[in-house]
Amino acid sequence: MTAPRRCLAIVLAAGEGKRMRSHLPKVLHELAGRSMLAHVLAAVTSAGAERLAIVTAPGQEKVVAEAKRVAPSAQIFIQAEPLGTAHAVLAAKGAIEEGFEDILVAFADTPLVEPESFARLRGPLGEPSCAISVLGFEAADPRGYGRLIFQDQELAGIREDKDLNETERHLTLCNGGLMAIAGEKCLGLLESIGRANAQGEYYLTDAVALARQRGLKVAVVRAPEEEVLGINDRSQLAAAEAVLQGRLRRKAMERGATFLAPERVHLSFDTEFGRDVMVEPDVFFGPGVKVGEGATIRGFSHLVGAEIGPGAIVGPFARLRPGAVLGKDVHIGNFVEVKASMLGEGVKANHLAYIGDATIGARTNIGAGAITCNYDGFTKFRTTVGEGVFIGVNSALVAPVTIGEGAYIGTGSVITKDVAPDALALARERQIEKPFWAKAFRNKHRK
Ligand code: UD1
Ligand code: MG
Repeated sequence: MTAPRRCLAIVLAAGEGKRMRSHLPKVLHELAGRSMLAHVLAAVTSAGAERLAIVTAPGQEKVVAEAKRVAPSAQIFIQAEPLGTAHAVLAAKGAIEEGFEDILVAFADTPLVEPESFARLRGPLGEPSCAISVLGFEAADPRGYGRLIFQDQELAGIREDKDLNETERHLTLCNGGLMAIAGEKCLGLLESIGRANAQGEYYLTDAVALARQRGLKVAVVRAPEEEVLGINDRSQLAAAEAVLQGRLRRKAMERGATFLAPERVHLSFDTEFGRDVMVEPDVFFGPGVKVGEGATIRGFSHLVGAEIGPGAIVGPFARLRPGAVLGKDVHIGNFVEVKASMLGEGVKANHLAYIGDATIGARTNIGAGAITCNYDGFTKFRTTVGEGVFIGVNSALVAPVTIGEGAYIGTGSVITKDVAPDALALARERQIEKPFWAKAFRNKHRK
């Protein structure tokens, strides 16, 4: 068996992204709950890149922070001036010089390329005479893209849109921008690239013609246009989101989830579904949600960072916030919010409740309007409720407080002290009744 080919991925992210009209750098805008940059870093990693180099512009601290967050071992390189894609790749010269067999060049603003396509792009470099592998696609509208120029059925070069002649302008096989370059030939090619073109830039694409002049082979690997969609403005961001949502829904359905109206469910890059999960229309899954087998998520629910046990029923109109962990067969009904709380098996909170910073034992029933008062304006406190407890409607549990197992909390109680197991706690005014008071009151006013 031959050893796997060592691969460095260079991710270009030095573009300005002016057309986003945003205070946030372009590549930090999110798709399915994750930044474009993180999508690209994940894809090249899945395609076997063992080292990551990110090229960004000076002063892009937020880009650097996101790169470090998602790929702590990534190396950051600064391209002092945006002089073109070849110039950007050369900013990472320090990494290239370490010696890799494959150099994968990716764009952080082209976030939909599948790991399989990156892996296919590397494929031809396995052949010793092959210097470059280019990702080509058939463009519905080729304007703006570099065109692949063939001579005698071999790729001879790539011509940028602004440098095309009239015949070339009609070519529709375009350059996706990404490239795989043989590591040992990379610097020799890139450092020979000049800037005598319409934009006065160092074009990475010129490496193709240079390689051919030197008698090296160049390969073209094709991918669907959808994958090479580049993001320059908010409309393209929305288009990319739609593509990604379609992929995520298809994967979830392949794994055995049912969506009554797939296009009305919003997923995150990491949403996980067990088999036979059923999702009604108009549900939002933010990042970090896991749904266990056979659970049902009813309409208009908003879930982020939550774990939902098998057989649970959530919603309609439920809100699960980060740290909500629902055990098996838990029922969370309409207008119930759960945050940073563990709910044991079979817990029911069917209407209008807030459960925050709490641990709730199995089979406990939480009445309508019950609230854990977890915050005094400065500090958060925890509420602990044992198994089989009954919390009467409109109760306030003022944390820190512990309710023993099997206890009853009378309706409308404000519980500030711990309650013993199996006790009844009432913390409300006793009812008083004044016979015929109302009738006397009305008579007085009629006079
Ligand atoms: C590039 C390709 C073109 C291809 C198209 C596909 C070149 C010369 N052209 O053109 O053939 O059809 O992508 O979308 O490669 N960047 C830097 N520093 C720079 C310049 C660019 O980091 O100095 C980064 C950008 O942030 C971006 C990527 O490189 O992520 C591509 O640059 P962009 O200006 O979008 O290239 P295109 O003109 O689209
Ligand atoms: Mg572009």
